[in-house]
Amino acid sequence: MSDWHEAYRRRYKEAKERGVSFFPYAVVKDVFMALLVLCALSYLAIHFGAGLEDVADPTDTTYNPRPEWYFLFMFQALKAFPGNLEPLAAVILPGVVVTLLFFLPFLDRGPKRHPFDRPLITGLGVLGLLMVSYLTYAGAKAPLLNPVVERDPVVESGARLYRDLNCAYCHRIGRKGGGVGPELDRVAPQETEEWLIKHFRDPRSVTPGSTMPQLHLLDDEVKALAAYMKSLGGGEPYSPEAPKLFAANCAVCHKIGKEGGEVGPDLSLIGSARDKAYIRRYVTDPALVNPSSAMPNFKDQLTGTQIEDIARYLSSLGR
Ligand code: HEC
Ligand code: HEC
Repeated sequence: MSDWHEAYRRRYKEAKERGVSFFPYAVVKDVFMALLVLCALSYLAIHFGAGLEDVADPTDTTYNPRPEWYFLFMFQALKAFPGNLEPLAAVILPGVVVTLLFFLPFLDRGPKRHPFDRPLITGLGVLGLLMVSYLTYAGAKAPLLNPVVERDPVVESGARLYRDLNCAYCHRIGRKGGGVGPELDRVAPQETEEWLIKHFRDPRSVTPGSTMPQLHLLDDEVKALAAYMKSLGGGEPYSPEAPKLFAANCAVCHKIGKEGGEVGPDLSLIGSARDKAYIRRYVTDPALVNPSSAMPNFKDQLTGTQIEDIARYLSSLGR
């Protein structure tokens, strides 16, 4: 270590004696480094880009909120501070850390520069880095809140058109929007695709006297809108895992279609009688809904996300 010091001091002294000037010598180093960083950034921007997500949609119940990786540690740290302690983790602690960093030059006045000569500050720094790394890792590993659902790209582009063309000025979906036209999630899924397509090409061709404007859309756009309309009736989408989870956990006692046991009721048409919230509660803990229930509870066997997934699957049956 002292060797390193010696060598450094010697180089420093020599450089000082030689009298290297800031311009151009130090400036060249700076410019070179800046250029290198710029090249790396340009390369990343051209070849990878920064993916944008869709516009926020309050009616979407399948969204899994996740920050970018460099904020995952805060996302994870917030979980340790429930409820009204949240401001402590979100504002006060980061504020204290940044303030300390700001005052660091005044707090750490030692003349020595080598990290090993400043064990307290170096130790704290390394500890901080380790903590951030661990929290980032834990955040990346944390289970998603919603089942991961494959999205149909045609339906997605229909949803985007719905926003871009401001259909919500006249229509409501999920109770949001204007009241000039009908509430689309109630009526539109019942129409056939052909009817919807004709209606989008020219509303008056199928609804004489309609006040809905003719939109002059491309064929693909009309189809996408129709697909989006049809998707509104399907309840909340479930992942391909849901039927598998049912087969593994529930089919010993319950039938869907021809497959399954007879201990519990046949669930083939459960969606026509029970809604998602009911099924979710029932599967989480049957005793809460039905004190004399003979069904085991699943709150320890399945995660909340899995129960949500199954509940979406079952509530779609028989609708
Ligand atoms: C200026 C108001 C207005 C705008 C903008 C508008 N609509 Fe309409 N829409 C109506 C009215 C009024 C009706 C009822 C008469 C009819 O069926 O044509 C209607 C009917 C519909 C229907 C048929 C519902 C049914 O099953 O009976 C669908 C589907 C529909 N609109 C979708 C859309 C979409 C998608 C957009 C955006 C591209 C849109 N509308 C824009 C006023 C509007
Ligand atoms: C050990 C047998 C058994 C297993 C395993 C089981 N159930 Fe049940 N389930 C029952 C019985 C029996 C009932 C009838 C009411 C009661 O006793 O709770 C029932 C009732 C239900 C109901 C209520 C139906 C209604 O109309 O109120 C739902 C929903 C349900 N089960 C879903 C599930 C799901 C989902 C799973 C798997 C995660 C599952 N069950 C696993 C035995 C079982």
